[in-house]
Amino acid sequence: MSKSLIVYFSQSGTTAQVAQRIAAGLQTAGYQVDLCNMKDEQPPPVGNYQLLGIGSPVYYYRPPFNVTDYVKSLPSLNGLPAFVFMLHGTYRFDAGTAIRRILSHKGALDVGCFHCRGADLFVGYLKEGYLFSSGHPTTDELAHAEAFGGSVAAHVAGRPYVRPEDDRPPSMIYRLERFLTGRWLAKHIYSRLFRLDAKKCDACGLCVELCPTGNITQREGRRLVWGRNCLLCLTCELKCPKEAILSPASWSVFRPFMIYNVRSASRDPSIDYARVIYSDGSLRQA
Ligand SMILES: Cc1cc2nc3c(=O)[nH]c(=O)nc-3n(C[C@H](O)[C@H](O)[C@H](O)COP(=O)(O)O)c2cc1C
Ligand code: SF4
Ligand code: SF4
Repeated sequence: MSKSLIVYFSQSGTTAQVAQRIAAGLQTAGYQVDLCNMKDEQPPPVGNYQLLGIGSPVYYYRPPFNVTDYVKSLPSLNGLPAFVFMLHGTYRFDAGTAIRRILSHKGALDVGCFHCRGADLFVGYLKEGYLFSSGHPTTDELAHAEAFGGSVAAHVAGRPYVRPEDDRPPSMIYRLERFLTGRWLAKHIYSRLFRLDAKKCDACGLCVELCPTGNITQREGRRLVWGRNCLLCLTCELKCPKEAILSPASWSVFRPFMIYNVRSASRDPSIDYARVIYSDGSLRQA
């Protein structure tokens, strides 16, 4: 039996849902599938597999740093068939293309790419009162994901595959946002500038537990320290039940970008959204 490995990163669960349905499609086509969420475990070596899938959310109009690093760290793939799937709340631009390009440089054989929307828990938008792509992935999108798994298996078996055109790159303003949330700034500047309100923090440890890179450590007493391995996923800020964390994304200098993004996405008829009230790490309908 052929074996497929699907490595994905899913912080709030939507990419995981799609990964499971693609796996179901592959299983129906006769594959044994191993699923690995990079958040929870180290991916196994790809050498034992006949098919590789990479799944990721879009963060700041590109793949998150950990996904890019993983794909770059793969050995030469020597014609191994590979597919990519991306979840996005508003605009994905060429985030999926970025992963497909690295895979292709590694010698992988492109056998498919899939994308759909996923509920966008970006804390900046939630603070503005908007949950974009609320309710996604939908039942239909999940059914498409399963069918995509079947079509990937068919392409590996020899059905002709027409590689879709590369996605378009972002326009100037989104490129600027991508630059401002780039790796150098994240590592050397922003990671030092998470602010903790010690009066509000009750040392519950939730932020430490939820950080996907183990970037927050709890020192003597209640002191929390942020390291340099930050994805800017903002889960720590989003989930803190005491609203004790303020990330650099909440700086007023970024507010005009937030307002621009919210205005553009909320006026785009292709994007669903719900009005929400975000407080104490949870959401309710406005
Ligand atoms: C920090 C952060 C940045 C995001 N940036 C983008 C983005 O640039 N474009 C987009 O379409 N969606 C963006 N999203 C939305 C996610 O890509 C989307 O909600 C995805 O479904 C989340 O996947 P997960 O549930 O598997 O973690 C962002 C979400 C977060 C938390
Ligand atoms: S989640 Fe909030 S309250 Fe809990 S330890 Fe982290 S900062 Fe403190
Ligand atoms: S420190 Fe916060 S923003 Fe950075 S990776 Fe961890 S949870 Fe995400």
